Amino acid sequence: MTQLVVRKLLIDLTTPFPARWNGGDAFRSAFFSALSMSFPVGEQYFMDSVRAGLKALPEPERQRLAVEVQGFVGQEATHRRIHALFNGHLQALGFINTLEPRAAKRMQQNARLDVRMHVAATAATEHITAMFADWMFRHPEALEGCEPRLQTLWMWHAAEEAEHCSTAFDMYLALGGSHEWRVRMLRYITTMFALDITRQTIRNLWHDRSLFKWSTWTSAARLLFSKDGMIRGNRAMWRAYLAPDFHPRQQDTSASEQWLRDNSQRYALVGQTV
Ligand SMILES: [Fe+2]
Ligand SMILES: [Fe+2]
Repeated sequence: MTQLVVRKLLIDLTTPFPARWNGGDAFRSAFFSALSMSFPVGEQYFMDSVRAGLKALPEPERQRLAVEVQGFVGQEATHRRIHALFNGHLQALGFINTLEPRAAKRMQQNARLDVRMHVAATAATEHITAMFADWMFRHPEALEGCEPRLQTLWMWHAAEEAEHCSTAFDMYLALGGSHEWRVRMLRYITTMFALDITRQTIRNLWHDRSLFKWSTWTSAARLLFSKDGMIRGNRAMWRAYLAPDFHPRQQDTSASEQWLRDNSQRYALVGQTV
């Protein structure tokens, strides 16, 4: 069982930021803003899925995972709240979040699926976020020039994603979910996530009047498609999930643990699920 604590960020999130908040770089700002726009709706879904999964578990499995699920829900609820504040600033700048209602509608259409499908979708998304989190620790230049308070927000979220990366996965196993559906769900979630983020990034760039600028797309190429970029650099880790004996704890989370130790003055512990 993983011990998960809930942390309250001690940073100012009331002061607005500019549209190109990520170091003045149009693409990096639009892309990370799109990610942030996907979080509140996604994180609500993860919380609902693992809560439903816990209810469906027989004893003693339910008891074994209950405390960890409580910590997972506490962390995701905090992410959801903080990113809603972040997204509020984007909305005030005129950015329109079309990803959220589209994803919410899709989730509603799939609501009647077996609880294992929802937990599998959550485990797959958690793998993708943990993969990006690990990448962020290896590539601080992705947030280069960004205000320290916003860097803290992103790195804190990344650290907690690495920390709770196995909760939904362990629940899926405890529910008796198959390897075949676990892998199918990763492919489905990856496709939908890529489409959603691409559409929202383009919409954000359009609003920022930077969609047709050469510098926008050179930045995109550097961030996503360079040799160790966010997409090319994560292929191996994405594929690792396909192995029958994969487990999220096989991933190295030492960088995120180090970040949490080095930045303990930037958050307060509000709950310890020990
Ligand atoms: Fe999160
Ligand atoms: Fe998460």
